[in-house]
Amino acid sequence: MMAADLTAHGVPPSLSARVTGSFAYLTIRDRLPTILTKVIDTIHRTKNKFFEEYGEEGIQAEKQTISLLSKMRNELQTDKPVLELTDGLQDVESWNQYLQRQQRLQGDQESVSWFKSPWLYVECYMYRRIQEALWLNPPISDFDVFNEGKTQSFFESQQAVMTLCTYLEDIHKNMEKFSKNQLFEQFNKLLQVSLWGNKCDLSISAGQDNFQKTSPIDSLNSLQSFILVDDSDRVWSTLNSSQRLGELGKNAADRVDIVLDNAGFELVTDLMLADFLVSAGLAREIHFHGKSLPWFVSDVTANDFQWTIRQTMAANHKWMSKIGYQWQNYLKEGVWFYHDHLFWTQPHEFCDMAADAPDLYATLQKADLVLFKGDLNYRKLTGDRDWDHTVAFSSALRGFGPAPLCSLRTLKANVQVGLQPGQGEKLTSQDPAWMTSGKYAVIQFHNPKSE
Ligand code: F6P
Ligand code: MG
Repeated sequence: MMAADLTAHGVPPSLSARVTGSFAYLTIRDRLPTILTKVIDTIHRTKNKFFEEYGEEGIQAEKQTISLLSKMRNELQTDKPVLELTDGLQDVESWNQYLQRQQRLQGDQESVSWFKSPWLYVECYMYRRIQEALWLNPPISDFDVFNEGKTQSFFESQQAVMTLCTYLEDIHKNMEKFSKNQLFEQFNKLLQVSLWGNKCDLSISAGQDNFQKTSPIDSLNSLQSFILVDDSDRVWSTLNSSQRLGELGKNAADRVDIVLDNAGFELVTDLMLADFLVSAGLAREIHFHGKSLPWFVSDVTANDFQWTIRQTMAANHKWMSKIGYQWQNYLKEGVWFYHDHLFWTQPHEFCDMAADAPDLYATLQKADLVLFKGDLNYRKLTGDRDWDHTVAFSSALRGFGPAPLCSLRTLKANVQVGLQPGQGEKLTSQDPAWMTSGKYAVIQFHNPKSE
């Protein structure tokens, strides 16, 4: 295995600047303050609503929160030490222990600070500190600063969602007639729709992408060559290797877990995939995992999850609304489950999960297959390290393997493993931004039982 250094503060894509079809790059000095400034602005713009709901107390809370966030922005911009959390929430001890762990790794000469720490850590830390600023200021503690963007992403992709719902309805109607090969073909399509749904997260693209505007199914062919690793046949075999018979009399996995990423359009594509797995008799139960707090601009919280299903039910489109009711029934009848766990909003790499969140690890061990959506999950799976591109995915996981797992990820950060010799070099010469533009994707599978 190649030695792998932590990626330093790379060159992550900016929030919105798009230059000739790719993203312009800003350093951490620009990117995180930009997000913080937007958060401050959102809280400020919500002032009247806070006043209507909580009177003068709401206004005071708004001011105090903004003051804490401005202070943090200043700490960030002037590379001050990373501070311990103080809001008394359940995860504070774990966060503060992680800070000590960073300090030990770095040595005692200097404090752990914003620019001198691993990018993954400070990025997570910033989102947790936003939560702290709100928590310290009831009555607005529960305010989701990213809610506006997430709901907007849902509404802006309505056309594509309706097209997908009509497509899914068609599959439902024909399900009994499908041969094994036709079923595999449909599975591949919905897996890829969910994969490319990840292109549309708000922290990178500020929303709209062609994939969301047009018919996603029609776009799949032209996107195929951008999938750098495609292990979908191994995912399919895993789903079909169970000896248990599903409702349609075919082999079915007992349980598939989906570790969600973004709300808005991406979440709808994940729900479509989950719907297909159940209705095609490929899985009996789906367990979704979301975030316990607003995270990385667009990640799914319990509120986003329920809201999305309610909106789908309420849609003024026959098939969309029908599918929304079906999803609600799946939840009521114990076919679908939603979970959150504080580990998902901590900075830990997933190879730490067995030791640091054994209960979550044990939960995932019950799955026949775990799907990890998105870029941040990939960074945590691989430790966000500067791996040689040819290092095997299973090696980069460094022992993490509660169950057979698959990452569905569009590339937005400087880490990529499991490529063929020369593939990374070729991409770099053709398209220097290939690892961060969101243009490429991987479907990468690992089975701990067979490797
Ligand atoms: O690219 C910027 C960034 O914040 C990355 O750090 C992170 O991996 C990504 O956005 C979020 O992407 P996703 O929603 O796919 O996890
Ligand atoms: Mg995300």
